[in-house]
Amino acid sequence: MHAYPYTITISSEKGGVGKTTLATNLAIYLKAMREDLPVTILSFDNHFTIDKMFELQKRKEDAPDVHALLMGAKAGEVVQTGQYGVGYIRSSTELGDIHERFKGPMTLTRMLAESGISGIVIIDTRPDLNILTQNALYAADRVLIPVKDLPSLENCKNIFALFDQRGIDKKSLALIPCLIDSRIKFEGVFKDQKSLLRAIAVNRGYRCLDTYISKSPKVESLNTNPEGKIYPILTHARGTEVHGQFMEITRDILRSVDATKETRACLYHTWLLEKEAHKKESYLARLEGLAERCLICGALLAEHSDDRSFYFETSDRTARGFLHGNCVSSMLCSTLYGLQQNDPTFDAARALVADKATRVVSLLVPRISSETSRLDYRQFSMAGEHLLQKDLEMPGFDAGEFDGIHDRLYLLLNEALAGFEGALRKESWLSVYPVDPGNPEAILHEESYKTIHRLQKHFAEAILSI
Ligand SMILES: Nc1ncnc2c1ncn2[C@@H]1O[C@H](COP(=O)(O)OP(=O)(O)OP(=O)(O)O)[C@@H](O)[C@H]1O
Ligand SMILES: [Mg+2]
Ligand SMILES: [Zn+2]
Repeated sequence: MHAYPYTITISSEKGGVGKTTLATNLAIYLKAMREDLPVTILSFDNHFTIDKMFELQKRKEDAPDVHALLMGAKAGEVVQTGQYGVGYIRSSTELGDIHERFKGPMTLTRMLAESGISGIVIIDTRPDLNILTQNALYAADRVLIPVKDLPSLENCKNIFALFDQRGIDKKSLALIPCLIDSRIKFEGVFKDQKSLLRAIAVNRGYRCLDTYISKSPKVESLNTNPEGKIYPILTHARGTEVHGQFMEITRDILRSVDATKETRACLYHTWLLEKEAHKKESYLARLEGLAERCLICGALLAEHSDDRSFYFETSDRTARGFLHGNCVSSMLCSTLYGLQQNDPTFDAARALVADKATRVVSLLVPRISSETSRLDYRQFSMAGEHLLQKDLEMPGFDAGEFDGIHDRLYLLLNEALAGFEGALRKESWLSVYPVDPGNPEAILHEESYKTIHRLQKHFAEAILSI
């Protein structure tokens, strides 16, 4: 069974509100209260607080860190066993260049899902909403947003707005009043800092935890000592109010963890796998319907497969398959320039045509009436730009005559578009795409095939408009 983590992200655009204190201590309380639950912590900040707090041995220079995780490393490679039984991923100063990879909002969710990390993952973020923070927000089953005053409460609106923009359910988001100074008292309805913050939050439609975290000189002193260490609240500030508050927050989190059947990472990964399976199925189906022969020379492609340089498809998708590069360029050379194969200039002209043909899509639309047989030939760029049009006569086509010039064209049209009793299927046409002869099937992969779809729609409109 694949393991997926339950992800908790601590985020606030405001600096110094207690994010890192909350993230690190929450990890320790979770582990203490649920020993068998793996807890892993990581930070997108470069303060190395996580490392200082959890490191058992001194960091080796090239030890894999958060950067490695974001490059796709697996749990076993990046998660270190740390103090208090908490797993941690080393912090990195190299996250600046990672943004390119994180254009999409769900990249981190996928990476966490694929990493194989189990239990709980806690992500401490930087005080901003850069793409990494956004990814951490979308990956989270729970987002805790510490607020300590009105400006930090004001800032929350950006996080909520992000979720609104993307149409993501905001039920994972919750504020938690932090650094609450119980000595501050107000006159009137709201007697203290936390009641005021909570009232404003609720008034704005933000969910707020029942618990809060008090400001405590003892807690503040935990990272200021001669040893340069950072001590946990659980072991070094048990006597404080904050200890009880952390117990309460941890219980609340554990209740959510227990109530969650499928985490965000699991849901997203399952969805991705289904999409992949569907893509693969469609690809296999597309492979299956291909013509066995090159419709121009008639050779079996399995036997003469070295020069599959073009892919063709009819507008009704009845016929699809690969064509030899040589066959297509010879056909175009004869059709466009009226040259016969034994013409002295044929080879030179064909080389020119062949070169151009690898960059353009050819559209072949037969226009057959009782009086004439003509071919509407057009070239488009792969981006769909119309490059060329030629209106060509097809002498003797109707009578099934070959004249040494149009033979290949007639063969292709007849083979691909033949309908009942030898007549061409009405309104149908043919498009021919250059492919990589080293891997012609790649054109049938989801993304490239989408391009063909788009072009064909575009062609159908172009043809209709005449
Ligand atoms: N409950 C508390 N009581 C007193 N001081 C606290 C408490 N929680 C955190 N602090 C102190 O407040 C300061 C900021 O805390 P912390 O580093 O956790 O905030 P942060 O939001 O992570 O900051 P940054 O945005 O810079 O990453 C630290 O000096 C920390 O020791
Ligand atoms: Mg911090
Ligand atoms: Zn051929």
